[in-house]
Amino acid sequence: MSALFALLAGAFSLLCLFLYLKHNYWKRNGIPTVKGCVALVGHMLPVILKRMNFSELIRLAYEEHKDHSMVGIYKGTRPVLIVRDPSLVKTVLQSNFYNFHENGIKVVPEADPLLSKNPFFSYGETWSTGRKRLTYAFSNVRLKILFTAVSGVCKKFEEFLNGRLETSNKYEVDMKMLFSRFTGEVVANAGLGIEGYCFEDDAGASAFHNLAGNTFAESLGTIIAFHYPSINRLLKLNFLPKSVDGFFRKVVSENLKIRRNESTPRNDFLQLMIDMEKTGEEIDEESVSAHAVSLYLDGTETSSITLNFIGHNLAAHPEMQEKLRKEVRSTIEKHGGLTFEALKDMTYMNQVISESQRLFPGLGFLHKTCTEKFELQGSDGLTYRIKPGTELVISVSGLHGDPRYWDNPDVFDPERFNDERKQTIEKMTFLPFGEGPRICVGMRMALLQMKACLATLMNNYKLELSPRTQLPLKMSPHYFMSEPVGGNWVYISKL
Ligand code: HEM
Repeated sequence: MSALFALLAGAFSLLCLFLYLKHNYWKRNGIPTVKGCVALVGHMLPVILKRMNFSELIRLAYEEHKDHSMVGIYKGTRPVLIVRDPSLVKTVLQSNFYNFHENGIKVVPEADPLLSKNPFFSYGETWSTGRKRLTYAFSNVRLKILFTAVSGVCKKFEEFLNGRLETSNKYEVDMKMLFSRFTGEVVANAGLGIEGYCFEDDAGASAFHNLAGNTFAESLGTIIAFHYPSINRLLKLNFLPKSVDGFFRKVVSENLKIRRNESTPRNDFLQLMIDMEKTGEEIDEESVSAHAVSLYLDGTETSSITLNFIGHNLAAHPEMQEKLRKEVRSTIEKHGGLTFEALKDMTYMNQVISESQRLFPGLGFLHKTCTEKFELQGSDGLTYRIKPGTELVISVSGLHGDPRYWDNPDVFDPERFNDERKQTIEKMTFLPFGEGPRICVGMRMALLQMKACLATLMNNYKLELSPRTQLPLKMSPHYFMSEPVGGNWVYISKL
């Protein structure tokens, strides 16, 4: 009995020593540590207990250490560095990209074969090939071609809203749901050349925008899959639901059969990817399916979240909504319709989009891994020799809301992004799409579809805040990206 007790006491002491050494890593390295470290789970307890999402955790850590260039947290026992200085952000994202070129969030290829080919989750040769293809797919010439399909979605969107307004003069809606119908239909029509049924109520689960369901929900599985890659190498948890994986393989396979028998090639994204994946007569179906998933996952949710907050800000600021409407209407008149060129001319709309992304970035943090050792030197004199494998996080929402870089950061003011004031924005403090060689490759596609959607809305309808929206907006702890608790409700009426 006493031997057992001694063994347990010994094991417990060893565990305590292990945890002491692990959780003192930052102190030993002269880097300040965020408050609230708990043995074994580190700083992740509020995320595990669903009190806040990871993005909020990082933002609070950013705000707690106003005068430091770097600050440390622990994910479990693993040290993670938060870089706060814009100059360090530049080092990581741009100037020394080679030393930090991997993203921090990992998927296991055997568990997520399609996702592992997505540029976001890949590196080296796979990343640069995937990235080159997408860069070409979203070049100006290609976007102009895709715009024909986006324009068709705008018409469906209008018909849908008019249908809702047939029996009542105000339609109350949670904008996230509304905009995910729009972005889902764009991916289906412009991306894959198929019907998305997103504006049909009785389509249920077969509607494209309902496909991913809670793919992005922060479940225990996704927390492990994303934040604890070493555990997940053993557990092999998949991030992409099997149903979504199967759906895209089926869509691609069926489409390939149809397209093999067509004499005129189509103009959509899928056709382009098919052509690029052809080696001789063979088509790599798995890679084409991966592109389809990438377009769906990267393209729909991010854009509908961003539109959701833009809609909220416009409903909350009727005078800015009116100013945007004037721009939309005069530009449409000048170009004789809602054309590709007309959208490019809507510059106040760019300001509204940027300011909304500053106040509510869809993705509140960027997560990187060090791949080559490097000495990080902060403007406050802190230095840290970072080693390969160490994770770094950049708080996008922290930088976007820092009074050091933005006057009255909580105020929605699109004039911050007018031609003159835009020049004065400190570099690396505005990162809605990231920066450097890994900057969002779909940014131009995202702006195209968001601008087309907003122009349709502003030209014909008015947005007013519904009392169902809980103000001030508070971000859901259940979601990996930004989503307000209780939804973003508005009344839409015809002008
Ligand atoms: C408003 C909408 C969007 C937002 C806010 C957004 C934001 C971002 C952010 C923050 C990153 C990470 C950058 C980094 O790691 O440094 C990213 C990467 C990426 N985005 Fe987007 N995105 C949007 C729309 C799209 C669209 C429409 C696509 C189209 C397929 C897309 C495809 C990608 C891809 C493939 C990456 C990985 C790039 C790489 O690692 O090289 N995104 N995006």
